[in-house]
Amino acid sequence: MNDLVRVEEVVEQGRGITTLRFRFPGGAPGQFVMVWVPGVDEVPMSLSYQGEMAGITVKNVGEATAALSSLREGDLIGVRGPYGKGWMVPKGRILCVGGGVGMAPLMSALDAVDDPSTVDVVIGARDAGEIIFYERAKERSNDVRISTDDGSRGFKGTAVALAAAMMAEKKYDMVLGCGPEIMLRYLLVACKEAGVRCQVSLERLMKCGAGLCGSCVVDGLRVCVEGPVFFDKQVEGMSEFGRCKRTASGSKTKV
Ligand SMILES: Cc1cc2nc3c(=O)[nH]c(=O)nc-3n(C[C@H](O)[C@H](O)[C@H](O)COP(=O)(O)OP(=O)(O)OC[C@H]3O[C@@H](n4cnc5c(N)ncnc54)[C@H](O)[C@@H]3O)c2cc1C
Ligand code: FES
Repeated sequence: MNDLVRVEEVVEQGRGITTLRFRFPGGAPGQFVMVWVPGVDEVPMSLSYQGEMAGITVKNVGEATAALSSLREGDLIGVRGPYGKGWMVPKGRILCVGGGVGMAPLMSALDAVDDPSTVDVVIGARDAGEIIFYERAKERSNDVRISTDDGSRGFKGTAVALAAAMMAEKKYDMVLGCGPEIMLRYLLVACKEAGVRCQVSLERLMKCGAGLCGSCVVDGLRVCVEGPVFFDKQVEGMSEFGRCKRTASGSKTKV
């Protein structure tokens, strides 16, 4: 689907993090859309809400995300998609681990679980001001714990350290993780040590979003088609995972 939609609701979610709601039905948990801000740019955004009234949750990091963050109710944006392979939401005990705005695609997984009592959540951020979706996650899970790097709310330390402690405390069948790639790299190690399977959602520079241009390729896999969600076994074999990514000019830079 490719449509010009009107922003119907704007919610300040946390410091520099804004949710925009608009009518755009469809999508599976973990899928993303390409969002066009007229006159600025088109960027990939995970669906943080799915259904008749969709939503994206934007962290202001540059030109396009600043433009999205400044939109108001009634403004128009272009949305095409949904694209990509999202979460395989299994039955059994699940631990969701979100770093910062990485909670966005995890919320669509939480909305899709059959039995919220089987799911625990770690919401990590640099500080209390960047914690998002706490109340919403509580409604869709059994146990939500918070970590902040500076200790301003919840556990003082990383989301991965808290997740590792929870995996030592309880038995899980699957971990779903989204956040900065360096966090995901350590999450994968923690899951391996605990003997728990894991899926992670990756971000790469995207131009077409639909498998045509090759700008998002990591080790031969297109993040926009074969991902953005990958299983542990797939990312373990990626030489670039947790190390480097490509810039708009095609050169490599550290993640
Ligand atoms: C599948 C997918 C889902 C995403 N979901 C979300 C989300 O739910 N919420 C959210 O806030 N962000 C999300 N992102 C990241 C978002 O697309 C980038 O932050 C955005 O494109 C930056 O654009 P900009 O013009 O504001 O920043 P720029 O000025 O272009 O760059 C600022 C920073 O963002 C990085 N970046 C730039 N373009 C991209 C790009 N196309 N893809 C990834 N990183 C980029 C740059 O390396 C730089 O570090 C997602 C990315 C992908 C690939
Ligand atoms: S963004 Fe073009 S192939 Fe993935």
